[in-house]
Amino acid sequence: MTTDLFSPVTLGSIALKNRMIMAPLTRNRAGEGGVPQDLNVTYYAQRATSGLIITEATPISAMAHGYPALPGIYTDAQVAGWKKVTDAVHAKGGKIVIQIWHVGRISHPSLLPNGALPVAPSAIQPAGQAFTYTGLQDYVTPRALDANELPAIVQDYVHATKCALAAGFDGVEIHAANGYLLDQFLRDGSNKRTDNYGGSFENRARLLLEVTKAVVGVVGADKVGIRLSPVNPFNDMTDSNPQALFNYVADALNQFNLAYLHVVEGGMGGKVQTFDFNELRKHFKNAYMANLAYDKARGNAAIASGHADCIAYGVPFLANPDLVERFRANAPLNEADGNSFYGGDAKGYTDYPFLGEQK
Ligand code: PHB
Repeated sequence: MTTDLFSPVTLGSIALKNRMIMAPLTRNRAGEGGVPQDLNVTYYAQRATSGLIITEATPISAMAHGYPALPGIYTDAQVAGWKKVTDAVHAKGGKIVIQIWHVGRISHPSLLPNGALPVAPSAIQPAGQAFTYTGLQDYVTPRALDANELPAIVQDYVHATKCALAAGFDGVEIHAANGYLLDQFLRDGSNKRTDNYGGSFENRARLLLEVTKAVVGVVGADKVGIRLSPVNPFNDMTDSNPQALFNYVADALNQFNLAYLHVVEGGMGGKVQTFDFNELRKHFKNAYMANLAYDKARGNAAIASGHADCIAYGVPFLANPDLVERFRANAPLNEADGNSFYGGDAKGYTDYPFLGEQK
């Protein structure tokens, strides 16, 4: 039998019925207090035929927020809301991990407790604008974190992971991609520190490795994945030597025996630096999840060649709750409506038709 998108696979100890992963997608439709609501339960349950759902990026603390209407994973009410999501996905035979997130400098005082400044490795204002409750506003210059504040952030990841377990998730994905806090430490365009957390690869990877060790200590390495985006310029990110940096990071992560490495293989707009993802893949010894603009043919080819063990699909799963069935049947796909990606109600969220349904 050939191994393809429809073949089962086990990531760490998470057994999947197929290799089509629902990628994390920010949708800005959580209820008051960052509590997942019934609409969110319906959305995720509709997509339970994927091999694995990775939830939208989910803040680990009040200071980790950077957009309106995000769910959180640090209060009892949020845990209760997520429990309804995981129960509904499990009842349909699906698996679901939560992507745990700290945005760092990609935020705005109006989104943070007491109008606090966003925090970052270095006080460098990112180009671009924050989505706030009152519209787009320029990013501000963040406050550089003191090294003695980092243990509390690591503890926020620990607390969020405990909350994730209480909410019934099958595991957690540490968000270290796309220009958010952990990626801000990794790449030298945003990290100009001169202490143990800046400069060498070892120093820039230190916070990610401390977080990983702490999260693994709560849930076990076989239930932890990590997402990286070595050359995504999104959120004003650059690095002077991404190939060497991320090869180092993959090598360093091998010490934990993680469930998987999830890689955004390119950029979400903007100029993308040259990078050999196959070289990166060879550095990581466990399962590799590839993401970005894959279709069925490229997904199957990446699995057949041994490049990837599974493929994360974002927009295709957003617009096609039954994407697995559509790929199986070579059926046409629903077109995604970009206007309803971020915020709103059921429209463009839970109303994409299944095969054979009239819209
Ligand atoms: C976004 O809301 O635009 C967003 C959030 C998390 C990501 C990437 C993009 O990792």
